[in-house]
Amino acid sequence: MTLSPKPKGKAASGSVVDRMQALVAEDMAAVEDILAARAASPVAVIPDLSGYIVSAGGKRLRPMLTLMAAHAVGKPNHSTHVLAAAVEFIHTATLLHDDVVDESDLRRGKPAAKAIWGEKASILVGDFLFARAFNLLVETRSLAILDRLATASTTIAEGEVRQLAAMSQRDLPTEEYLTIIEAKTGALFEAAAETGALSAGGDAFADAFATYGKNLGLAFQIIDDVLDYGGTTAVIGKSVGDDFRECKITLPVIIAKRRGSDEDRAFWDRVMNPETQVDTDLAHAVHLIRATGAAEATIQEAEAYAALAKAALRTLPESPYREALEDLADFCVSRAF
Ligand code: IPE
Ligand code: IPE
Ligand code: MG
Ligand code: MG
Repeated sequence: MTLSPKPKGKAASGSVVDRMQALVAEDMAAVEDILAARAASPVAVIPDLSGYIVSAGGKRLRPMLTLMAAHAVGKPNHSTHVLAAAVEFIHTATLLHDDVVDESDLRRGKPAAKAIWGEKASILVGDFLFARAFNLLVETRSLAILDRLATASTTIAEGEVRQLAAMSQRDLPTEEYLTIIEAKTGALFEAAAETGALSAGGDAFADAFATYGKNLGLAFQIIDDVLDYGGTTAVIGKSVGDDFRECKITLPVIIAKRRGSDEDRAFWDRVMNPETQVDTDLAHAVHLIRATGAAEATIQEAEAYAALAKAALRTLPESPYREALEDLADFCVSRAF
């Protein structure tokens, strides 16, 4: 079953990403060069594994945010490129670790690195990429940038551990869900955008970009969570139903359970327990999420965060960069890239 939220606003499907890629093409080429060069190591498994995941076709959304923010307030420089590469390395490190934690076998449309090199290598190369990101950040010679990314990395780790600790909770409060996703996903989007502005001398707009990035990240993760129940592997490059099989409680489940009958609630209590879930349960879960309107309500929640993201850009000077970032917020909600 394909869930295809309708594009809202002026963002036609696909176009804003193409537009953004064109706006930052030269910068992104420099970032890709840094990613390739700085994954080097005499220990062969490091460039082999990291080269595999880095070239597997991620969307490069976070480094793009860094570059776009820099352009929106000034001009990207070498530090901006180094910073954007560090942001992508941090993101990649979290994915290597996350696929071990989440027992996920597919990433970016390919077997997860852990399925090829094993969990131990995946974790250790993740550590390498985290550390390498901080080498790069030191090269920006900005303590403010270093501080933001160090804090974001701590927050992401806290978010992942918080989520792990919440796994055994039968009724996860929406507030706790939001706290988790703000930490595990919002923090890096926030830091990526804020430091992009800082790197180009746009200190006056740093707060606006932090707010934009955080809310965009929340919208993005909420949509990611709804796609787990109705997207297609071809579109998301990950196995559909991963969250369900792992019994991870996300917003669509919280809403479907709240809106459901007593029978539905008993179903959710049974299936959100690894000991009592069976293979055929996913289809009924997807059905309930649609039938109760939970999918639509989840998308609306993402829309609200996307609107907050856009509103944060109001004080910025008008430019094609600002306009594309505004459209990106709409597009994240109608995401199919
Ligand atoms: C995956 O992020 C992790 C989430 C926050 C959902 P992306 O969907 O941006 O991953 P890539 O980089 O494009 O693979
Ligand atoms: C993504 O978490 C956040 C981090 C990797 C820190 P998820 O577990 O929800 O993301 P996917 O679905 O594996 O990409
Ligand atoms: Mg996870
Ligand atoms: Mg995961």
